[in-house]
Amino acid sequence: MSLKHFDILILGSGVAGLSTAIKIAKKLPNTSIGIVTKSFENESNTKYAQGGIAVVWDKLDSFESHIKDTMDAGDNLNNLDVVKMVISDAPDRLKELIEWGAEFDYDKIGDYDLGKEGGHSANRIIHHKDITGLEIENTLLTQVKNLPNIATLPHHFAIDLITDHHVNGKIKTYNKENISCYGAYVLNENTKEIETYTAFKTVVATGGAGQVYASTTNPVIATGDGIAMAYRAKAQINDIEFVQFHPSALYQPGISPAFLISEAVRGFGAYLVNKAGERFMFKVDERGELASRDIVARAIDNELNTSGEDCVYLDCRHLDFDKYINHFPNINEKCLSIGIDAQKDLIPVIPACHYFCGGIDVDASGRSSIGNMYACGEASRTGLHGANRLASNSLLEALVYGHNIAQDIVVNKEIFKAEKPIVPEWDAEGTTAPKELIMIKHNKKALQSVMSDFVSIVRSDERLDKALKRLDEIYFDTEEIYKKAKLSPQLCELRNLNAIAYLIVKESQKRKENKGAFFSLDC
Ligand code: FAD
Ligand code: SIN
Repeated sequence: MSLKHFDILILGSGVAGLSTAIKIAKKLPNTSIGIVTKSFENESNTKYAQGGIAVVWDKLDSFESHIKDTMDAGDNLNNLDVVKMVISDAPDRLKELIEWGAEFDYDKIGDYDLGKEGGHSANRIIHHKDITGLEIENTLLTQVKNLPNIATLPHHFAIDLITDHHVNGKIKTYNKENISCYGAYVLNENTKEIETYTAFKTVVATGGAGQVYASTTNPVIATGDGIAMAYRAKAQINDIEFVQFHPSALYQPGISPAFLISEAVRGFGAYLVNKAGERFMFKVDERGELASRDIVARAIDNELNTSGEDCVYLDCRHLDFDKYINHFPNINEKCLSIGIDAQKDLIPVIPACHYFCGGIDVDASGRSSIGNMYACGEASRTGLHGANRLASNSLLEALVYGHNIAQDIVVNKEIFKAEKPIVPEWDAEGTTAPKELIMIKHNKKALQSVMSDFVSIVRSDERLDKALKRLDEIYFDTEEIYKKAKLSPQLCELRNLNAIAYLIVKESQKRKENKGAFFSLDC
C-alpha cells in the first residue's frame, strides 16, 4: 500500500485533463500536479477526434450565429449564459492552443481553412486534416513534458473518489450538500497495488461512456468511470439520457470501436443515400445531410427500419477528389484498406453511440456539487450542449473549462498551505485474485447488447422496462463478483458501465418530452 500527495490531482489525459494541468502549472509553478490516466498517456477520445474545433474566426461569421446554432442543436435545453461564455471565449482558447504549438490547415489565401459540419450555419471548423484530435493531444502532451511540476502516471486506474464517506467512515449519514473530495484511490497497473492519492483539489476529466453501447465510435477507455465514481460519491449528475449517436460510423459488422467517417465529409458535400441511391434527408429537414446529428441519426434509423437494410451510404463520387484526399487522408486510407475507393464506391455507414451530453453537473468555474472537486470535458455537464451537442463544440468546451478551472484554483490558492488530508488506505481484505474474467467479459457484452437493443436512438416505455430488468440481473451478478474478487480494471469498468446504463434508463424513464437526442415512442 502506498500513499502519495499532489496539490492537484487530475484524472484523465485527454484534452480536458491535459489543458487544465497546463494552465494550472503555468499559473502556479510551485504547486504539484499529478495526472493519473488508465491507459497509455495519449489514449483518449481526444486522440480520435476528426472534424475539428468550432470557433468563430471568419469576419462574416458572428458569435450570435454560433450561439444560435448551439441552442438550436441543443433543442434550447442549453444554458444560454454558458453558451455565450464558451463561444465568446473560443478564439482566445484557440490562439492559446496555437501558441502551444498546434498546427491547423490553411486555405489557398493563407487564412485558416474553415470546414462545415451539421447544424452550423457557417464554415467555422478549424481542423488539422481529419486528425485534429491527434494534433491537439500531441501538442498538449509536449507542453506537459516541459512543465516540471506535472507528473504523468500512465496505467494508473482511478477506482473511486475519496470523500467524507471514507475519511469519516463511521458516520452513517452525512449531508449531501457538505461532501468534500480528498483525492482518489488508484490501481497502479504496474504493481497491481491500490494506492491512495490525496489532493487539495481533484479534477475529474475521465471522458465519456460510449462503451455502454455495442456499437460506438469511442475507444475502449470510454467506460464512464469518472461519472460513475462521482455518482457513487453522491455528486449531482444531469442530462445523462441525452446520448448522441453519430450518423456516419463506418459499417463493419463485428468491428468495435466503429471507425468514424467525419461529419466534415458531409460538410464537404458528400450525400447520404439509401441502397436505391436516393438522398433521403431532404424529406426530413431542409438542411439535408447537414441537419443536426440527432435529426440525421433518427432519419437513418427510420430509413433502415422501413427498408430492412443494414446500412445507408455516403456518396463522395461527385466531389473534387484531390481536395477530398487533401482534407481527409486518414479516412481515405481507412476506406482503401477495406477495399472501398470513395472516388468510385459508396461508403457504407450507420449511426453509432458517439458522445455524452450529460455528466457531472458543474458551474461556470467547473466546480461540481462536491467540495474541492471539479469536472471538465465529456465527463462533465456544463449546460453548453442542452439535449444534443452541436458538432465540434466538445474540444472547445474542454479547453474553455480547463481555463476556467485553472482561474478558480488560482483565486483560491490559499488552500495549498493547509495540512495535507489524512485518509484511510483502501481496504482489500477478504478478496481473492480474479477468477471471473470470463464472466466480466460476458456481462459487459450482455450490458452493451441490452443498451443497443432497448435504449438506443428510439426508446419506449416498454423497451426501457425490459432494459431495466435485464440490467438488474447483470448488476447483481457483477456485485457478487465485486464482493469477492481482487479489483481489476475490467471489473471496475463493468461496475461503472452498470452505473451509467442504470442512470441512462432511469433518467429516460423520467423524461416525458422528446428533446434533441432523446426520443421515445411514448412521448
Ligand atoms: P477523453 O479525451 O476521452 O480523455 C479521458 C481520459 O481519461 C483518457 O486519458 C482516459 O484514459 C482517462 N480515464 C478514463 N477513465 C479513467 C480512470 N478510471 N482512471 C484514470 N484515467 C481514466 N469533438 C469535437 O469537438 N470535434 C471533433 O472533431 C470530434 N471528433 C470525434 C471523433 C471521435 C471518433 C470521437 C470518439 C469523438 C470526437 N469528438 C469530437 C468528441 C471529443 O473528442 C471528446 O468529447 C473529447 O475529446 C473528450 O475529451 P476529454 O478530455 O473529456 O476525454
Ligand atoms: C466528426 O468529425 O464528425 C466528429 C465531430 C464531433 O464529434 O464534434
